[in-house]
Amino acid sequence: MKRIPIILDGDPGHDDAIAWVFAKAYEDLFDIKGVISVSGNQTIDKTTINSQKICALLGIKAPIAQGAVRPLLNPVMTAGNWHGESGLDGAELPEPEALSDLSGVELMAKILKESEEPVTIISTGPLTNVAQLLMTYPELKIKIGVISIMGGGLTYGNWTMAAEFNIIEDPEAAWTVFHSGIRLYVSALNVTERALIRPSDIEKIRAVGNDVAEVVAKWIEFFIQYPMAIGYEGAPVHDPCAVLMLAKPDLFECKDLYVDIELEGEFTRGETVADFRDWSTEKPNCTCCVDIDQEKYVKYLCEALHAYDGRKVKI
Ligand code: BDR
Ligand code: CA
Repeated sequence: MKRIPIILDGDPGHDDAIAWVFAKAYEDLFDIKGVISVSGNQTIDKTTINSQKICALLGIKAPIAQGAVRPLLNPVMTAGNWHGESGLDGAELPEPEALSDLSGVELMAKILKESEEPVTIISTGPLTNVAQLLMTYPELKIKIGVISIMGGGLTYGNWTMAAEFNIIEDPEAAWTVFHSGIRLYVSALNVTERALIRPSDIEKIRAVGNDVAEVVAKWIEFFIQYPMAIGYEGAPVHDPCAVLMLAKPDLFECKDLYVDIELEGEFTRGETVADFRDWSTEKPNCTCCVDIDQEKYVKYLCEALHAYDGRKVKI
């Protein structure tokens, strides 16, 4: 099987980290070319060091670069209430892998220039890095095959009543990406909030019995606390959906839709406005997942974790 060159672009973050657990486990499908941090769940210094430690834990050998320090226009806003002071509280991690001297955008551009195949970008944080890449190197747009995004909510929010965190953090960046004409896959809250890991799933994860599974169990034990305190039945582990849309399409039901980004609204800035009208004349600009099989999601996570004790993972 021909492997897909991918760039991991995120703000780890527990669910970003688990997305990367999947990406590395599916090594027969994905060739990880680079890992880029972005300011989001925590400030850039924290999401960068977390990226370096996750790569050390998972054995990801690709270059790692620090991405955007702040959104294009918005001030920095973090999600420490969900992800803790470090942005990835809950487990001891190994010493960080080294950081590239290149900026996140420079590393992305280098990977795109050098690749003979179209590159897929998996973005699980605010879209600042990708927007900066498109604005700085517009000629490289044709080298991007797909951008798979965790972001938005069709049609409600988690950070405000209308907007999801990754989009409200940097709406101008999201607008740039959604208007780029690049093929987009979108996992939004309507599905990722059902990518739920319940308390009873944690022991299934731990039972896999290797070091990475133990860390993931500890991450979830931390990450589940805040959502359960505000009424969720478990932890919505959003970001892996952006990896799984590419690797395990059988998990999802998808629909091609036109989605735009609200930049102005007093109550709705950062909303992903989706056109569900069958008779719409708007040309769809993304493939959105609209349903997920939650039981299979947990099963696939346990299977993927077996990659870390040397077993082959089925794609
Ligand atoms: C998104 O926001 C972040 O807190 C998570 O990592 C995820 O990417 C969910 O709204
Ligand atoms: Ca994230």
